[in-house]
Amino acid sequence: MTQPAVYCAMTVNVVLITGAGQRLGAATARRLINQGCHVLLHVRSSIAEAEGLLAQAKAEGAAGSGEVLVADLTDDDALERLVTEVANHPLVTDHGLYGLVHNASFYSPSNFAETSLDAFRQLTRLHMDAPYLLTQGCLQALKQRNGSVVGMVDTSWGRVWDGLAHYTSTKAGLRQLMLNLAGELAPEVRVNCVAPGAIMAADWEAEHFASVVEKVPLQRSGQASDIAAAIDHLLQHPTITGHVLHVDGGWSIVE
Ligand SMILES: NC(=O)c1ccc[n+]([C@@H]2O[C@H](COP(=O)([O-])OP(=O)(O)OC[C@H]3O[C@@H](n4cnc5c(N)ncnc54)[C@H](OP(=O)(O)O)[C@@H]3O)[C@@H](O)[C@H]2O)c1
Repeated sequence: MTQPAVYCAMTVNVVLITGAGQRLGAATARRLINQGCHVLLHVRSSIAEAEGLLAQAKAEGAAGSGEVLVADLTDDDALERLVTEVANHPLVTDHGLYGLVHNASFYSPSNFAETSLDAFRQLTRLHMDAPYLLTQGCLQALKQRNGSVVGMVDTSWGRVWDGLAHYTSTKAGLRQLMLNLAGELAPEVRVNCVAPGAIMAADWEAEHFASVVEKVPLQRSGQASDIAAAIDHLLQHPTITGHVLHVDGGWSIVE
């Protein structure tokens, strides 16, 4: 499942991306591997997709490398194992952690009156507990490298998204966690968020997605590569912290 890591005397930029097997997480992993990073691609079920991405990067002679780490982030024991695995990874202990991207998510509508506390807790685990524990467990490694953290949020802040209270409220929690940590972890570690607009539709929202794109001032949804570029920018930029970068074609200024 793992690809041999590239060990060398130079500093290696090690990045952990959660939910990196598909879609926006995979696009980000691809970009960072092409730039020479060693990416720890966390997945829950997309093991074959993540391994395919690594094989393709290798075949194309990418400057970087990566490996796949598997965990269900809603399972406390699995989350704890992942934290330990990352913190004790030889590349992380040697080079610290350059980037930590909290990308894993679950986005599906559910009528508030019928959404159980258990279903809500799955999302607080995924969007808040996992980023909290992973950031805490990787703190030493982030400080060692003066690394940075990116939380993937969205444009729902202060708005009503019907049937998505469980999703929007837990993303709001992630956003506030990131902003608070930007202050608390400075000056060693920077913390920011990326707020994508309508970039890649979920299976259930194709119709809604098209109506959103019509309202977007730039009249286009954007590409996964646009999000990867925004994450890369925040990881590299030495001065930006405590920022929410909207990559939404202007959607958030018209709603
Ligand atoms: N797509 C958009 O247009 C859009 C818009 C606004 C915000 N965003 C945000 O941008 C980020 C990426 O978006 P996306 O659409 O690419 O995300 P996504 O496909 O909805 O989810 C990303 C990954 O999260 C992982 N995941 C789900 N439940 C998990 C669990 N219990 N434990 C561990 N991993 C789990 C899945 O991994 P496996 O496949 O391995 O199971 C999935 O591939 C998300 O945080 C999303 O909220 C996206």
